[in-house]
Amino acid sequence: MNDAFLTLAKLGVVPVVEIADASTAVALADALTAGGLPALEVTLRTPAALDAIRAIAEARPDVLVGAGTLLDAGMLDQAVAAGARFLVSPGLTPSLGDAARASGLPFIPGAVTASEAMAAIDAGFNVLKFFPAAASGGPAAISALAAPLGGAGVRFMPTGGIRANTLQDYLDIPAVIAVGGTWIADTASINSQDWDGITARARALTNNDHS
Ligand code: 3PG
Repeated sequence: MNDAFLTLAKLGVVPVVEIADASTAVALADALTAGGLPALEVTLRTPAALDAIRAIAEARPDVLVGAGTLLDAGMLDQAVAAGARFLVSPGLTPSLGDAARASGLPFIPGAVTASEAMAAIDAGFNVLKFFPAAASGGPAAISALAAPLGGAGVRFMPTGGIRANTLQDYLDIPAVIAVGGTWIADTASINSQDWDGITARARALTNNDHS
């Protein structure tokens, strides 16, 4: 596994964040780091997302900052230019796969069916985002999917609808490399700069080593 995947596996939990104001990005990264989670996936769902990634990458090189919600090759290239160190998409298209391979960065495309997972593996990706996790059958669906695909070395990063009270059900699955979610640093907490609350939620989640 590459360094980014090793770090995600070691942390076990990846905060997925939506940042409205890039000037809060470094403080957010610091709040997560103080809670023992020096990694985050910044979703490209706000105009500030790329500047937020750039700010964290420049000011906090020890924080593993990734980019999520990459829907096409153009978004992926912008995320790479901003300094993202891992790349996440809810799905996979041929052009997105080509751009990801060209970037040389770890890429986690989305897959929730056997055919989608097989297509991703065929394209050279074996860490897959299982999204939307809860709505797609949750832990039972991941375990069932992992059974025939385990031999291909596939690992899943479930996100979507996972909260503190369902986290452990996902972490118990050996094929899960890490679990992602917005509940750790939710948009309201980021916007109100509730760094202590974010640090506390991060701290409650550490010791989930899944490597
Ligand atoms: C994602 O992009 O990974 C999801 O939107 C996270 O879903 P959540 O808000 O239910 O955690």
